[in-house]
Amino acid sequence: MTINHFRTAAVAALLLSGTAASNADSLTLYCAADEAWCQQIKTGFEAETGITVDMTRKSSGETYAQVRAESGNPKGDVWWGGTGDPHLQAAEEDLTVAYESPMRGELYDWAIRQAEAAGNKTIGVYSGALGFGYNKDLLAKNNLPEPKCWADLIKPEYKGQVQMANPNSSGTAYTMLATMVQLMGEEKGFEYLKALHANINQYTKSGSAPIKAAGLGETTIGIVFMHDAVAQTAAGFPIVTVAPCEGTGYEIGSMSLIKDARNPESAKKFYDWALTADMQSKAKDVKSFQLPSNKNATVSELTPDLSSIKLIDYDFKKYGSSDERKRLLKKWDDEVSTLPQ
Ligand code: G6P
Repeated sequence: MTINHFRTAAVAALLLSGTAASNADSLTLYCAADEAWCQQIKTGFEAETGITVDMTRKSSGETYAQVRAESGNPKGDVWWGGTGDPHLQAAEEDLTVAYESPMRGELYDWAIRQAEAAGNKTIGVYSGALGFGYNKDLLAKNNLPEPKCWADLIKPEYKGQVQMANPNSSGTAYTMLATMVQLMGEEKGFEYLKALHANINQYTKSGSAPIKAAGLGETTIGIVFMHDAVAQTAAGFPIVTVAPCEGTGYEIGSMSLIKDARNPESAKKFYDWALTADMQSKAKDVKSFQLPSNKNATVSELTPDLSSIKLIDYDFKKYGSSDERKRLLKKWDDEVSTLPQ
C-alpha cells in the first residue's frame, strides 16, 4: 500500500466510524426490565434496523437516578421498561421529552392514561400485578402453612423466610410500599412494613431477585410481580404464585425519551417499534409474562389474568409524583430500614 492509498483508506475509515456514531445508526438504551428481555430487545432492534444498540440494564429507581445525574450531559437516548413511577417522576422533573407515537391507536387505555398523566413524556409498554411467590418444597420442609394474604407474611412463623427488594433501587419494591399505603392507609401501611421488616432476610437491589432466590432455595418467599413468579415456575423451579387475598397493586411498565439525547431520531424509531404488536408478542419467548400494552400482541397463557385479580385503584399520578415518591422513600429509610431485625 502506498502512502496515498494508506491515506485514502484512513480517511475512509474515519468517515465510516463518523457515520457509525451519527444519529441514524446508534442508540443508547437504558433498560429496566429483566436482563433476558433487555437482551432480546437489543438484538431484535439491531437486526431489524441496522442501528447499533448500547444497552445497560439497571433497576427502575437506579435508572431514574442515572438519568437525573446525567441530565447536564445526557448519555442515554431512551429508557425502556421498569415500573412507571420513576418515569412519571422524571417527566415532572423535565428529564424526558414529549412524543406522540403513530402507534398510540393500537394501545390499551391504561397505556395512554399513563402518557396523559405526564404530558406525553412517557407511555405504558406493559402491565402486571404485584404479589408474591413461595418455594413449595422449602415451605413443606420448614413445616410452614401456605401464605395466601399480605397479613400472613408478618406472622412470626415466617421470620427470616421473606425477601423483597429495596424500594429506593427497585420499582417493584416501591410499588409494594405504595400499595400498602393505598390498601391500608399510611399509618397502618407503615406499621405493616415495620412488622414485615422483622421477617425479611434480605432487601435486594433488583425487584425480581427475591423470587429467583426462592427458585434456588435461598429464601422461602419472595415479594415480586406475579409474572416474575410465574416465570420461575415456567423455568422449572418449585414456585407457587399468589395473588394476595386483600387485593394488590400493579405496575404500568413504561418508556420515555431522554431529554437532550444524542440520537433522538434512533430513539423515536425505537419508541415506535417498542409499541408494535410484533415486538411485544416476543416477550413470552424469554419468559417475560407481563400484559403487553398493544391490544394486538399475543398474550401467553401463563400471563396472570389481571381481570381475575383483586386490584386496587392505584393512583399512579400521586405515587409517581416527585414529592410523594421522595417523601415515602425517606420515611421508609428513616422508619423501617433502620429497625433491628
Ligand atoms: C421485573 C419485572 C418488571 C418490572 C421490573 C422492575 O423485571 O418483570 O415487570 O417492571 O422488574 O424492576 P425493579 O428492579 O426496578 O424492581
